[in-house]
Formats: sequence, structure tokens, C-alpha cells
Amino acid sequence: MAQSKSRKLKRILDLDDFERAVRRRLPHAIYAYVAHGSESEASLRANREAPDDWRLLPRVLVGVKQRSERIELFGRSYAQPFGIAPMGGSALVAYNGHEVMAKAAAEAHIPFILSANSIIPMEEIGAVYPGAWFAAYQSPNAQAIHGMVERVGKAGFSVFVLTSDVPVGSNREADARSGFSFPIRPGPKLTFDVATHPRWLVGVLGRTFLRRGVPHIVNLEPDGGPNLFSRTVAHIASHESLNWDHVRLIRKLWPGPFVLKGLLSPADLVIARDCGVDGVIVSNHGGRQLDQAVAPLRVLPEMAEQAKGLTLMIDSGFRRGTDVLKALALGAQCVFVGRPFLYAAAYAGEAGVAHAIELLAKEIDKDMALLGRREIAEIGRDMVKEARR
Ligand SMILES: Cc1cc2nc3c(=O)[nH]c(=O)nc-3n(C[C@H](O)[C@H](O)[C@H](O)COP(=O)(O)O)c2cc1C
Repeated sequence: MAQSKSRKLKRILDLDDFERAVRRRLPHAIYAYVAHGSESEASLRANREAPDDWRLLPRVLVGVKQRSERIELFGRSYAQPFGIAPMGGSALVAYNGHEVMAKAAAEAHIPFILSANSIIPMEEIGAVYPGAWFAAYQSPNAQAIHGMVERVGKAGFSVFVLTSDVPVGSNREADARSGFSFPIRPGPKLTFDVATHPRWLVGVLGRTFLRRGVPHIVNLEPDGGPNLFSRTVAHIASHESLNWDHVRLIRKLWPGPFVLKGLLSPADLVIARDCGVDGVIVSNHGGRQLDQAVAPLRVLPEMAEQAKGLTLMIDSGFRRGTDVLKALALGAQCVFVGRPFLYAAAYAGEAGVAHAIELLAKEIDKDMALLGRREIAEIGRDMVKEARR
């Protein structure tokens, strides 16, 4: 078994290979839920195009035999300058999706962010990766905020992330076309789709029901959350009245590092800093929220100018070692990657995610050598040139 797995993994040479490998294995609706963006998917495309706005400027004859990609974030050391972004619904894509990603991340010593939109209790993830990060879809209610902060701390998470770019759910026509929705409504299209993917039906859905019964989104509130088929699930992530007062309240209550995810405007970064936030993840949610939102890499230099001590991180569309290195050169301290790790979990569970981490780590290491850089601290703005000038 282990041998056939490794043969299977040997065919995967870069992060995009995982998507090609699982595309037909997953029910179309599940694949579409992960892969697509909102509306015309302009932001989704822009995210992938943004690294091409920059080219790299290598130095030579540096002597790069000893190299390290280690970084420090909030007083903790990590082996790589990238981590796994929070992704809701992961356990519908891969069996125990969040857990296998957390285990592989813990093993590789990289950051992992658990989404609130998960059917695996955060306490189980905190046990497999003490010090993992938690991303809340926080309801703007003082009692819920008190309760969540307490629960997240008790479960062993080190960083509280507040996802800030989901005041309402976005328009995702791909989901409507494929029959996918929250709550899940098994109409004829979805039923046929699932029935014609028996490997997923048995290996993911069947095993999940056997282990957990009817799945509930258990990390939304201090005491759990609704089941996937209930009507209340429709608005789980969207909180229209969430505002900076709630950020200040979380800051008051959460004693550890506090991060806002989903900022694109330097003006918001300034407010975040004034609220006492420790870090931000510049993100357009992987092109899944406001379509036509700018690609995060494009605003990164301006964000870096305003960061002044804030830990600056980024996600959305990063797939190559050189993409990660360009973001570091433009001011990010860590880059988060989403979809490829979820496809990797769907392809080969924990071994798949470990392979994905290794592929990206190897690319970064080789690219560092080719750039004449021995450690992350040597990466700076002098390493990139604008491509279109
Ligand atoms: C299937 C899926 C579910 C997601 N769920 C969440 C979530 O629950 N919370 C959140 O903050 N971001 C969520 N995101 C956004 C990711 O955290 C991240 O911003 C994005 O995927 C990065 O882009 P990439 O997939 O191109 O790397 C989700 C993304 C995907 C693909």
C-alpha cells in the first residue's frame, strides 16, 4: 500500500498536478465548490497572473551551500515561509480533510489555520497540532465573542484569526449550476453526481457519517453549530454587522497574537494597527468573495509601507516557489496557500499533503540557491523588478 502510494505521488511534480489528478475523482459539485471563484472570476484569474508582473534578479557566486528557509512569526519558529490557509468544507472534499492537513503541517513545522466552517471539532485539531491557528467566522455578539475566545484558547490554538471579508456570502454561480449549496439539498443533479462517484461516496461521505453521524459545523459558536442540512447553515459565515468595535473587543479578550484576514486596502491596515491587531493576511479570499477585487500581490508593496511592525502575510493564487519568493521580496513574512493542499488531501490524505508541502519547499530551496540567497532575511525589494517596465 505504502509503495503504491509513493508511486502515485511520484507522478505529482508540482502543486497544480494535484488539481488535475483529483478533478474527475471528486463529484463535479465538490470540485466546483473548491475550484471556482465568484461571478466572472476576474479576481481568481488576476491572482494567478499577478506574480507575472514581477521578475527576479539573481545574484551569483555567493556560496549558497548552507541554506535555510526558516522564519519566525509571533515568537514561533517555522521551517518554511508558507502555511496552509483556512478552508471550510474540507472534510467534504477529503476524508477528515482538516485533520490530515493539520497533521502534515505539524509534521513539517509550518503554520496551519483551521476554518470555523469545519465538521471536525477544533479540540481534535488542537490535539494533533497544538499551536495551530484558528480562523473565526465570528458572530457579532459580545457573548459569542467571549465564548469563542475562551474555547479557541482552551483548545490549544496560538493565533486567533478573524476572517473579515465575508459580510455577506458572494455570488458563486458555479455552485448554483452544479447543484451545490449550504445547506446541502440533494436534488436530482447532485444525487446523480454523487452516485456516479462511488469512491468519494463511500470513502469520504460514507466514512464521515459512520464516524460522526450527520455532520455539524461544530466550530462556529462556543457550543457547536448547525448541521449541514439545516436552513440556518445558509448564513453561517456572513455577519453583516461585524465591525471594528468587535475587533477591539476580541483584541481585549484574546491574550495571544491576533490576525485579520481578508484586507486589501492600506487604509484598513492602518485601522487594524490602531486596534492593536498583531498581523494581517492580505487576501481576496482566493477570488471567492468580491469579484474584481484586486490581486493581493498588487497591493502588497503599499501595505508593506504602512505595516510598521505589523506582521504582514498574504494569500490567493500562490502556487510556485518563485511566487512565494516574490511575495517575500515585496514585504510579506509568510504566504498562505489554499486549494492545492485540499486537492492533495483528496488525492492521498496526509501523505498527499506532506508531498505537496515538500514540493513547494523544494522549489523554494532551489530557487533561493539560484537567486544567491542563503536565508529568508536576505530576501528584499532588490530581488524583484517590475516586468512590464
Ligand atoms: C474550499 C475553500 C473554502 C474556504 N473557506 C474559508 C474559510 O472558511 N475561512 C476563510 O477565512 N477563508 C476560506 N477560504 C479562503 C482561503 O483561506 C484562502 O484565502 C484562499 O483559498 C487562498 O487562495 P488559493 O486557494 O488560491 O491559494 C476558502 C477557500 C477555499 C478554496
